[in-house]
Amino acid sequence: MTDHLDNYRLTLGENTYLPIMVGGMGMDISTSKLALEAARQGGIAHISDALISAVSDKHYGTNFLKTRQQKYQPYISQNLANRFHAQFDLDELYQASRLLVENTMHAKTGTGGIFINIMEKLTMANPRATLEVRLKGVMDAGIDGITLSAGLHLGSMALIADHPRFRQIKLGLIVSSKRALELFVKKTARLNRPLDYVVVEGPLAGGHLGFKIDDWFKFDLAEITKEVIDYTKTLGLNIPVIPAGGIFTGGDATRMLQMGAAAVQVATRFTTTLESGFPMKVQQRFFRSKEEEVVVNLVSPTGYPMRMLNDSPCIGTSIRPNCETLGFILDGNGDCSYIDAYNQEVLRHPDNPKVMDKTCLCTYMKSYGTWTCGHMVYRLKDTTNQLPDGSFQQLTVAQVFHDYLHGDDQHIKPALMEPHHQPALTTED
Ligand SMILES: Cc1cc2nc3c(=O)[nH]c(=O)nc-3n(C[C@H](O)[C@H](O)[C@H](O)COP(=O)(O)O)c2cc1C
Repeated sequence: MTDHLDNYRLTLGENTYLPIMVGGMGMDISTSKLALEAARQGGIAHISDALISAVSDKHYGTNFLKTRQQKYQPYISQNLANRFHAQFDLDELYQASRLLVENTMHAKTGTGGIFINIMEKLTMANPRATLEVRLKGVMDAGIDGITLSAGLHLGSMALIADHPRFRQIKLGLIVSSKRALELFVKKTARLNRPLDYVVVEGPLAGGHLGFKIDDWFKFDLAEITKEVIDYTKTLGLNIPVIPAGGIFTGGDATRMLQMGAAAVQVATRFTTTLESGFPMKVQQRFFRSKEEEVVVNLVSPTGYPMRMLNDSPCIGTSIRPNCETLGFILDGNGDCSYIDAYNQEVLRHPDNPKVMDKTCLCTYMKSYGTWTCGHMVYRLKDTTNQLPDGSFQQLTVAQVFHDYLHGDDQHIKPALMEPHHQPALTTED
């Protein structure tokens, strides 16, 4: 009998889940709607707190961005040497975290879990204080689990050690090497609070990559996963290990479970679902993509390489840094490498600045102009039907879950797809 992903289950403490984790996709691409549907199916899905004030304004009628913009209006200056010190209001940040998580958790049904992805690299002009508020806000609001990502998080556990839910909530970490996990384990040993799971993100993932720009392609997800599994065994803690990055079919996923992974984390397959936050125009672009259009570059001011389509609107722009309103990547000194790159470009070409080496990530994440994707994005077209008008049919989260659970080889099963109502493309898209 052929082995299927549905033959496996993920156990985290007292809970049992389908072995599918939908990775966090900021900003608001892994929406509450997407996470709720995944939890209803019995899996785990992440919402994300990236640009959380903007997410709150969009869904819950707050005015956090407008308030920030008004507050920092005096800082807006043509002085090219200026650095913005646009601090975040910690109370507002806390409120935004609570609004997103409480509203999502109240609507939760099913046996699955709703976790949140929290990136350390969103330093928000005050790395420690803002991270603490973000973590505690979502814990107060009742999130099932937190996945720490985009950073080593060597101090993050200590920030929440005094929280009443510290030992009860599920806590996981994303690493791209055994070394990163070793460091984390060493730094947090005194807390006597082991991780509940580890996600191993390999070189083919979407979003930021935990590898160097000139050698990411030399690494192999299965190999790193194996190393991490072996290391967790030496700890004697039986921590579930969950690989991510390029796991595109049920067959790919099953092979990971056969070699000892506890589940898989996947994202790109869900970017083109009905429940995804990407506008329809971007979803159709993903469906039409070709392998040669997928690039890994250094335009993100976080310093990490990032994968995206080569015609992402965020590449080669002349936008003035928008830190008064957004400013999520500002470091503790109020700096961001995009500000530097922009200022230099303005000096060189005052009339027509075009910044090629960095992007204003906050602005372009907010406008869905950073078309980050996993390497396998070009295969999305094989997962669906092309409609008479040439566009591709979105699937639902339930359909993608079904395909991962029951697909037994490299092929997706188009016969499983029930046609459903697909909203027409509008000019807003
Ligand atoms: C559109 C998109 C946005 C993402 N955003 C984030 C993010 O905000 N934080 C993060 O830790 N990972 C992010 N990722 C990475 C995913 O959570 C996931 O680990 C990875 O993409 C899995 O590989 P796959 O897309 O090939 O399935 C993103 C991925 C995609 C495709």
